[in-house]
Amino acid sequence: MREGSILINELPLTEAFIPTRLLFREGQLKEIARCLSPALRNRKISNLFLAGPTGTGKTSVAKWILDTNFQGQSAYVNCWKYQTAHDILSELLLTFQIPVLGRESTSNLATKFEKIARKRQVIVFLDEADRIRDAEVFYHLIKSGAGIVLAFTRPHSLFRLPSRLKSSLPLTEVEFPRYSSDELTAILKDRVEYSLRPGALAPNLLKIIATLACGDARVALEGYFMSKLNEDQRIIYEILRTKGKLDSGSLYRAYRREVRDPVADRAYRKYMRKMVELGLVRETGKSRWKVYELLAE
Ligand SMILES: Nc1ncnc2c1ncn2[C@@H]1O[C@H](COP(=O)(O)OP(=O)(O)OP(=O)(O)O)[C@@H](O)[C@H]1O
Ligand SMILES: [Mg+2]
Repeated sequence: MREGSILINELPLTEAFIPTRLLFREGQLKEIARCLSPALRNRKISNLFLAGPTGTGKTSVAKWILDTNFQGQSAYVNCWKYQTAHDILSELLLTFQIPVLGRESTSNLATKFEKIARKRQVIVFLDEADRIRDAEVFYHLIKSGAGIVLAFTRPHSLFRLPSRLKSSLPLTEVEFPRYSSDELTAILKDRVEYSLRPGALAPNLLKIIATLACGDARVALEGYFMSKLNEDQRIIYEILRTKGKLDSGSLYRAYRREVRDPVADRAYRKYMRKMVELGLVRETGKSRWKVYELLAE
């Protein structure tokens, strides 16, 4: 194991892509683990607030800790997708495998969630919490006794919360600063070495990409990936980014609608294979039922 890196090979496969290693985030990992560890003994945890600009590892780090140590007692909600108290609570219940019936009231959902949270210390990770429409969901979560982890890209959005709520929701702040360009170069190198067939890489390319990314690992990784894709693959990438998961046939049809001179089915399949090898796209299912989605998001 290289110094300063954390091996996460034993990681169970989860929905999101988790990099092989999370470099330069030992401090944050330790601090988060320290705050959450009481939950393992069913004790109350310190709620957390992960603050930092985009692409600094907030989602990856927190998800990794929850998936490796708190499976079954934690839930992840992307609040960009689920913005209201009703949607967030439904999502939480589904994660804990509690069925949600159509048109259940928000307070009904909250009561159901409270039952789960009373039995054991659960941890709720509200990612991209700047997107939450109103404070209602926080009142339900506080009342239930669940531990809360919030990730914000714009820290000032915390000030929008009502002050009565802020005083009943003490948060320990963990800061995620931008990466330096040397750190980003190391992150890129690590990812390149991990890819199955990275191909020839100009040694300076990584450094240039890292410098241009201004501390954002997502931009750096995409810069690297994009430099290895052709025009058709970039279009396919954009389609997957906007549409999410797509089966192979639908993706091909969407691509054909986008370009004037589309490649044939065979070349399309070759392009997709290459994107999977690069670690950019995840493929599930077999032959005609293959489904694609982005990994590096
Ligand atoms: N320390 C790291 N080592 C390796 N890869 C990293 C590291 N930090 C981030 N990445 C990669 O960079 C990308 C962006 O990271 P992540 O989604 O965790 O950032 P974020 O802080 O949650 O950003 P946002 O505020 O936009 O949600 C992901 O593909 C992730 O795998
Ligand atoms: Mg994030």
